[in-house]
Amino acid sequence: MKKIAIAMLFAGSTLLMADGAASYAKCAGCHGQNGEKAALGKSVIITGQDAAKTVEQLQGYKAGTLNVHGMGGVMKGQVASLDDAGMKEVADYIAAMK
Ligand code: HEC
Repeated sequence: MKKIAIAMLFAGSTLLMADGAASYAKCAGCHGQNGEKAALGKSVIITGQDAAKTVEQLQGYKAGTLNVHGMGGVMKGQVASLDDAGMKEVADYIAAMK
């Protein structure tokens, strides 16, 4: 029984990671596979960036209140379909990048 519980725990966390990775897939075109690119030549490099900061930024973009480099509108479209849980997942995924 113990083994099964541990296996389920692992499966659960893998699933979470997979969700973050799936959400990030559409970000990679601009930010790079590991967040290493300045998106459209504008954004900062987001590789390994603190998750709480990323969530705050994504919420700002979604609300239309954040516009760091004059291209907040581009990001607004990107995060429109992400809810708070989705933002947290993708933020954790970015924070784990090296
Ligand atoms: C079409 C290209 C494009 C895509 C796709 C995209 N971004 Fe961005 N991202 C940008 C640009 C341009 C900026 C700078 C926006 C601004 O002026 O504030 C930016 C800014 C950011 C920032 C803030 C970085 C900074 O410069 O302070 C974060 C975090 C971020 N994006 C995360 C994401 C995530 C997560 C996704 C996927 C859900 C995503 N982006 C998809 C172009 C993109």
